[in-house]
Amino acid sequence: MDTVRLGLIGLGNIGRHHAAYLLDGKVPRCELRAVAASAEARTAPYVARGLTAFPDGLALIRSEAVDAVLIATPHPTHVALGVAALEAGLHVMVEKPLAAHKADAERLLAAARQRPHLQLAGMFQLRIEPRYARIRSLLQSGELGTLQRVTWINTDWFRTEAYYASGGWRATWQGEGGGVLLNQCLHNLDVLCWLMGSPRRVRGFVQMGRWHDIEVEDEATAHLEFAGGASGLFVGSTGESPGTNRLELVGTRGRLVLENQRLNLIRNEFDALEWSKTTTSGFTPPPVWNCELPFENHPAPHAALMQNFVAAILDGTALIAPGEAGLASVELANAIVYSSLTESTVDLPWDGVAWEAKLAELISGSTRQKVVRSIGTTDFAASFRR
Ligand SMILES: NC(=O)c1ccc[n+]([C@@H]2O[C@H](COP(=O)([O-])OP(=O)(O)OC[C@H]3O[C@@H](n4cnc5c(N)ncnc54)[C@H](O)[C@@H]3O)[C@@H](O)[C@H]2O)c1
Repeated sequence: MDTVRLGLIGLGNIGRHHAAYLLDGKVPRCELRAVAASAEARTAPYVARGLTAFPDGLALIRSEAVDAVLIATPHPTHVALGVAALEAGLHVMVEKPLAAHKADAERLLAAARQRPHLQLAGMFQLRIEPRYARIRSLLQSGELGTLQRVTWINTDWFRTEAYYASGGWRATWQGEGGGVLLNQCLHNLDVLCWLMGSPRRVRGFVQMGRWHDIEVEDEATAHLEFAGGASGLFVGSTGESPGTNRLELVGTRGRLVLENQRLNLIRNEFDALEWSKTTTSGFTPPPVWNCELPFENHPAPHAALMQNFVAAILDGTALIAPGEAGLASVELANAIVYSSLTESTVDLPWDGVAWEAKLAELISGSTRQKVVRSIGTTDFAASFRR
């Protein structure tokens, strides 16, 4: 095989973005052959360009028209479609989050483990942004010394009532499985776990529908403890404007801050705790250097991640965001909400079954419109009932 024949499932906000760069030839050796969407109006423009259209993802998967699929549908459909695709012998790129909840994500990963010749990747495009790659390499090289604290304020995910009204699945327990943590901040939770490893303890404080007429969380604060002893604070909101996006990492050798398109390192000339033990002064901190670390944003992160997926299939290149790596963010998003609802601290890694049961309770108690769309022969909401 020298070209990957791709099928795209879901033609909503992100699906159409994927289709545009794929049809523009931005991913060499990848040919978008087929699309699937529930509404014919969505597929018609692609049929006009010679693509084959299917009314649902399962029909596309079973068509034998493609070698791989890109799944860009609502969260609870990711696992059923992903497993069906793997069973049909297809490589899978799945949009974030891997699944609507951790236990379901594990089912997808188990299906992939049984088929090691197939690639399962997650669309976690922040991993290829140069700013995060730079931070990661600084952490890995020990530049910050012993890590003491990470704080990430992520309140620049402003969303309006019109946004939440734009899809029946949005901001419902059944249709989405969570709110700001599982959807918008999931990218940041993925980067946080990629930079730091998963925290070992989590205490969450979330508020459901604090700023919007929705049943899931649109405001969240989490206290985290990491294995190396660093403490963490993560804040997310879709109700603040202007919002803040400030990532601050503090170690004994300095403080790294990413904010407003600037990455700044204030580097201690000496390890702060060593200095503390040896200086005769009661208050003087160690002398510092102030360093700006310039970076460019990636011009086409989704296309680049697809390019990596294609290279993994055709050349055996390592995936930047393998499916396995998508588990940490969904686990953390679930654990923060579970911790808040049960007013308890959650130790990670964590058995997702507890959250699956809690989520089923939230779904059955929901007064919101139920999402009744199906993924074909498989029930849309089956992932919550297994
Ligand atoms: N990586 C990113 O930057 C990014 C950005 C936005 C959304 N997303 C993720 O992409 C997914 C979709 O989000 P969206 O905003 O595009 O949603 P959306 O509601 O705009 O679109 C979803 C599409 O899926 C289709 N669909 C649903 N079930 C289907 C099925 N069984 N077969 C075929 N089509 C089906 C719908 O008809 C709709 O066209 C979500 O998981 C979301 O978290 C990722």
